[in-house]
Amino acid sequence: MTAPVRLSPNSALDVRSQFPAVGDWHYLDSAATAQKPQAVIDAITEAYARDYATVHRGVYQRSSEMTGRYEAARTAASKLVGGQPNELVFTRGATEAINLVARQLPKDGRNRVLLSQLEHHSNIVPWQLAGYEVDAVPLTPDGCIDLDAAEVMVTDEHRVISFAHVSNVLGSILDAKRAAEIAHAKGALLLLDGCQAVPRLPVDVASIGADFYAFSGHKLYGPTGIGCLWAGTTC
Ligand SMILES: Cc1ncc(COP(=O)(O)O)c(C=O)c1O
Repeated sequence: MTAPVRLSPNSALDVRSQFPAVGDWHYLDSAATAQKPQAVIDAITEAYARDYATVHRGVYQRSSEMTGRYEAARTAASKLVGGQPNELVFTRGATEAINLVARQLPKDGRNRVLLSQLEHHSNIVPWQLAGYEVDAVPLTPDGCIDLDAAEVMVTDEHRVISFAHVSNVLGSILDAKRAAEIAHAKGALLLLDGCQAVPRLPVDVASIGADFYAFSGHKLYGPTGIGCLWAGTTC
C-alpha cells in the first residue's frame, strides 16, 4: 500500500490553499459541485473586469481577442474528451446538453430510450419531456450498469442508449466501449453523461465510439452555468 500524500502549506501539493472558499472545511461534495480554485476565480474576474467584449459579433480588437479566448476554451474543452473543437457546443450545463439531443434528434420511427437504474434525473426527465418511452437497465450486485442485461433489452425501437459514464451515486465506471458496441449493433446511438467521468478519468470519445458526450463546468472546477455537448454525429 502506498503511503498517503501529506499536504503541507509549503508543499507544491498544497491543494487546499488554492481553494479560498474551502478554508478549514473538509469539503466532500465535489460530485455535486466542485469548489473553485483561485486560478479560475482570477480568470473569470479578469474576463469581466479587464477583457470583456462581445464574442463572434465584433471586428474591433478587444472583441476579436475575446473571441479568440472563447474559441481557445472550446478547444480546451474538446481536448478533455478527445474530440475536435468543431464537434463541441457550449450549453448551460449537462442537463441542457442532454435536452438538446433529446429534442433535436429525429426519432426515425424509434421512440424508446434505454437508460439505467443509476441515472441522474438530468438523464431521465429530458427524454420523458421529449416524448420517449423509457426503459431502465438494472444494476449488477457491485453497482455497475448490467451490460449483459442491456444487450438483451435493446431493440430496434431504441433510438438512443444514454448512460452515465461514472455514477454520481455509486462511483461505478461504465464499460463505455462495450455500451457503444451494444447500441450500434441495434442501430441506436450512444449518449454518455460524463459529468462525473471528466473530472476523474481520461476520456477519449473516439476510442469509446460514443455518439454524444455531455459534461458540466461546475463539477470540473469551472463556473456554474456552463456545460458542453460533444457530438460525433449530427442531430
Ligand atoms: C451524473 C450527472 N448528470 C447530470 C448532472 C447535471 O449536470 P448540470 O448541473 O451541469 O446540468 C449531474 C449533476 O449533479 C450529475 O452528477
